[in-house]
Amino acid sequence: MKMAVVAHGGAGPGPERQKNLQRAVDVASKLLLSGASATEAAVEACVILEDDPVFNAGTGGVFRNDGSVLLDASIQTSDGRVGFVIAMSDTPNPIRVAKDLLDEPINGLTGPGARVWADHRGHTKEKVEGRPPMEGDGDTVGVIVRDSSGSMACATSTGGCSHRPPGRVGDVPLPGSGFWVNEALAVAATGEGEEITRALLSFRVSSKAGSPECTSLIDALKWGLDNLISDKASVGLIAIGREGPGIGLSNTVMPWASWIED
Ligand code: GLY
Repeated sequence: MKMAVVAHGGAGPGPERQKNLQRAVDVASKLLLSGASATEAAVEACVILEDDPVFNAGTGGVFRNDGSVLLDASIQTSDGRVGFVIAMSDTPNPIRVAKDLLDEPINGLTGPGARVWADHRGHTKEKVEGRPPMEGDGDTVGVIVRDSSGSMACATSTGGCSHRPPGRVGDVPLPGSGFWVNEALAVAATGEGEEITRALLSFRVSSKAGSPECTSLIDALKWGLDNLISDKASVGLIAIGREGPGIGLSNTVMPWASWIED
């Protein structure tokens, strides 16, 4: 089984983010080569993106309409576990909190309760500076990894689309919308969360893959963008199957980078 990584830096932003994204992919591939699991590699790569102020996630999360910075993150694994957090304040790396939920009886936490739980688990509590909203909707960061055992993990994180109120929930923490992982493949979405959620995009794309209509994974991504998403919304997808490289496709510009073992 060849190990593989694919990551995106949001739908809408331009290729100037490519090198920042490549850094996260390099971290994930090095971890995999030193024996890390898909989950570990996906989380550490996602942390790199959360710590990079260029991206709308973690440190670079955009302000909500009231000036607050509230962060969402999720992780799902091919052995059927999931963890997600919604609207977390004062948490520069919400993906680490989501990862800690993987082995808990609860899957998801939101708002102040998520922060209380994170305090109990010793997660860093620190004001996240954030930054003003951007033009256009972009975005999210996402990383999908396949390790040497063939296990897959998908980690996503966001400050939420720009120009949204503080209670708003986008696609990133919603299983089936912003991400979906099963034993056969992993899919992550980015872009306008409302559009992605209405379409249940990641789940429906993964269900379509391997059908007579979409024999290849890239066909399934194209089907999803063409049939489930309005032309007016900026949306992108990345995916990894049981074999082969990670792929990305978008109806707009979307920086993405990938690695596959030699
Ligand atoms: N795709 C990020 C969001 O809608 O919050």
